[in-house]
Amino acid sequence: MDLNSFSLAGRRFAVTGANTGIGQGIAVAIARSGGSVIGFGRSDMSETSALVSAAGGTFSPTLVDLSDLRSGVEALEAAMDEAPLDGLVNNAGIIRRADSVDLTEDDWDAVVDLNLKATFFLSQSFGRRCLQAGRPGRIVNIASLLSFQGGIRVPSYTASKHGVAGITKILANEWAARGVNVNAIAPGYIETNNTAALRADPDRTRAILERIPAGRWGAAEDIGAAAAFLLADASRYIHGVILPVDGGWLAR
Ligand SMILES: NC(=O)c1ccc[n+]([C@@H]2O[C@H](COP(=O)([O-])OP(=O)(O)OC[C@H]3O[C@@H](n4cnc5c(N)ncnc54)[C@H](OP(=O)(O)O)[C@@H]3O)[C@@H](O)[C@H]2O)c1
Repeated sequence: MDLNSFSLAGRRFAVTGANTGIGQGIAVAIARSGGSVIGFGRSDMSETSALVSAAGGTFSPTLVDLSDLRSGVEALEAAMDEAPLDGLVNNAGIIRRADSVDLTEDDWDAVVDLNLKATFFLSQSFGRRCLQAGRPGRIVNIASLLSFQGGIRVPSYTASKHGVAGITKILANEWAARGVNVNAIAPGYIETNNTAALRADPDRTRAILERIPAGRWGAAEDIGAAAAFLLADASRYIHGVILPVDGGWLAR
């Protein structure tokens, strides 16, 4: 292990929800650092594949709906049977907007099952392999500003992302001494499908922008760069952090 190394050369990483948005930005950043990527998701990933190739990397798509936990874990296990994985990025996530008095059980279950439950059990599957083989490993979970703040009209999302922060810490506590780093990134307001509804609302967009010290929304590549760091040797003594990449939002 080279403490000064930001290189991911020769390493293989799984990224969930890699077809678009932040997952795509992370896949491209891994490729730029020399790593190869297996994308797990339910939609066509050819755009990401092309971007990763252009960055000089290799990308293999695995089509799987991660709301079906068993299928998700089986797909990850199959990828690890093929060849060892060096890291897992739990990025796939959804949001459902409703006043707390109106939120349905379906809106609760859909969000918590994907954002929190799948993140935990995919991490369990990956972490177990690392511990059994005595291999180092990296997990990067995609949390949110709503891992720290309450938000408005997104109760199941806020619960799930607070949960992601919690499982990041407990897994770090259990696995840090055994060579597995578990960390999370809390993206600020990033221009992706996830925030399309917010960006379509001029009042919300203006209010959000006025509060961001950096004076702009984030791009998927801002999150990709942070993820590549947390997957590299250079971050080997970082465990259990929830790293805000938010243009300064939480400092305000
Ligand atoms: N954008 C932001 O400002 C922001 C801020 C904080 C945190 N985040 C988090 O960042 C992560 C990525 O979100 P994003 O902003 O990039 O939004 P996005 O463009 O909507 O991407 C979400 C990804 O998750 C995938 N996904 C959703 N349901 C899935 C399922 N059942 N099985 C497999 N994949 C599924 C999506 O696939 P499909 O394209 O097929 O739906 C997509 O690849 C999420 O965890 C989100 O909560 C985003």
